[in-house]
Amino acid sequence: MTSFRPTSPHVISPANASGVVRFPEGFLWGAATAAYQVEGAAWTDGRQDSIWDEFARVPGAVLHGDDGAVACDQYHRYREDVALMRRLNLDTYRFSTSWSRVHPAGGPVNPAGLAYYDRLVDELLANDILPWLTLYHWDLPQALEEQGGWANRDTAYRFADYAVTMHEALGDRVGVWTTLNEPWCSAFLGYTGGQHAPGRQSRSDGLAAAHHLMLGHGLAVQALRERAPEANLGITLNFEVEDPVDPENPADVDAARRLDGQFNRMFADPIIKGAYAPDVLEDVAGLGLEDHVHDGDLEIISTPIDSLGVNYYHGNLVGSEPARAERGGEAPTDRATSSPFPNDEGVYVHPRDLPVTDMEWEIQPEGLTRLLLRLQKDYTGPAGIKLCVTENGCAYDDVPDESGYVDDQNRLDFYDGHLRAIKEAIDLGADVNGYFAWSLLDNYEWAWGYGKRFGIVRVDYETQERTVKASGRWYADVARDGLVPARP
Ligand code: FCB
Repeated sequence: MTSFRPTSPHVISPANASGVVRFPEGFLWGAATAAYQVEGAAWTDGRQDSIWDEFARVPGAVLHGDDGAVACDQYHRYREDVALMRRLNLDTYRFSTSWSRVHPAGGPVNPAGLAYYDRLVDELLANDILPWLTLYHWDLPQALEEQGGWANRDTAYRFADYAVTMHEALGDRVGVWTTLNEPWCSAFLGYTGGQHAPGRQSRSDGLAAAHHLMLGHGLAVQALRERAPEANLGITLNFEVEDPVDPENPADVDAARRLDGQFNRMFADPIIKGAYAPDVLEDVAGLGLEDHVHDGDLEIISTPIDSLGVNYYHGNLVGSEPARAERGGEAPTDRATSSPFPNDEGVYVHPRDLPVTDMEWEIQPEGLTRLLLRLQKDYTGPAGIKLCVTENGCAYDDVPDESGYVDDQNRLDFYDGHLRAIKEAIDLGADVNGYFAWSLLDNYEWAWGYGKRFGIVRVDYETQERTVKASGRWYADVARDGLVPARP
């Protein structure tokens, strides 16, 4: 069985490339955010530090030393934000809950913190918006980090307890549960590269964290399934399409394979197939992963799920020789960081002749078609799991007019191109059931602080005023009509 096969760019059919593109009946239109990026109210009603509060204090870790203490203040403005979602015709809102609000310092339940999610969920339901709840979007309670964080196996069990707390409180009203968002980032940006909280730079801690995050996922799915057999349970992973510089050169193909293994298959294989891929185990041999894999773990990790959330921003061109030009994309912070990959010796990402966003991420919608088709064929199709694009979007250096309005045709084009790419994948057999724009609001972009704007709605951080951008107006029509209009 080959686990990595290079593919060529997908040419999107003329009808999907420029005509009216109608999505299937019942396709869900949504927008996404995450607790630390939008809530603010960092120490309100008993919430205590998460690893991101602590990381933001480390000199040079986050651009301009920005933190999420206020962010978009959604904790206090959720009513206004839900009204905005309704104006945007959203079917669903993907948000995450803050472990540090619910179990401050990882300790007993904090009813005042938990009550916020009661209010938010009730407000969503009163406005006919489906709550799509993610339990973990990177904000571990700092007290648990001090006990070893995700490198400590016990954190997986604590996570499952927190999942149960949330389900006991909201299970009567919330039917869609995502355990983790992008465990690759939590494990490898957090524990190996050090670009994200908690900022460790250890290859073996990253691998331990990856395994324990997946164990926590599996334990949470088991616990939730027992309580709610009919709930829609899943996980969101981030994926990249890795293309070799020269598909005829075995060394380039091998470099692409290694990146694919340590980025995509590191999580997709254990979770959906119940085993680490042999080539990935070989690539990371000697770094301690095996020491953390106990008997029975992979059965827990591969407990059946209903939905796989796919986050897609860009792909990579990968070679075995250094590129002539550097590919950018990392926050220009002062603190030294490392490669997030446990073993990427001889693996180089090359820039391509593609337009880039303000993150310097290449714009490559056809990669999303290929990704969804691959997932359908190799992972979700055989396992009977539904796909949903849970994040896709772009940062641009928006320029508002005097009223705060942003005529972001660049962002609108990005969404148009990626939605067309998804429709192409659906037509070719991918079972994609929904789409979430990242993001509803401009927000705290991790190590970039407030320096990058991803919203379809602008946030003025001085006044907290929200202004729907051109892309947001366009998306509201798409969500209302279930179609992408023909390109002008
Ligand atoms: C994803 C994260 C999300 C946001 C976008 C731009 O990796 O899940 O929080 O930062 O990138």
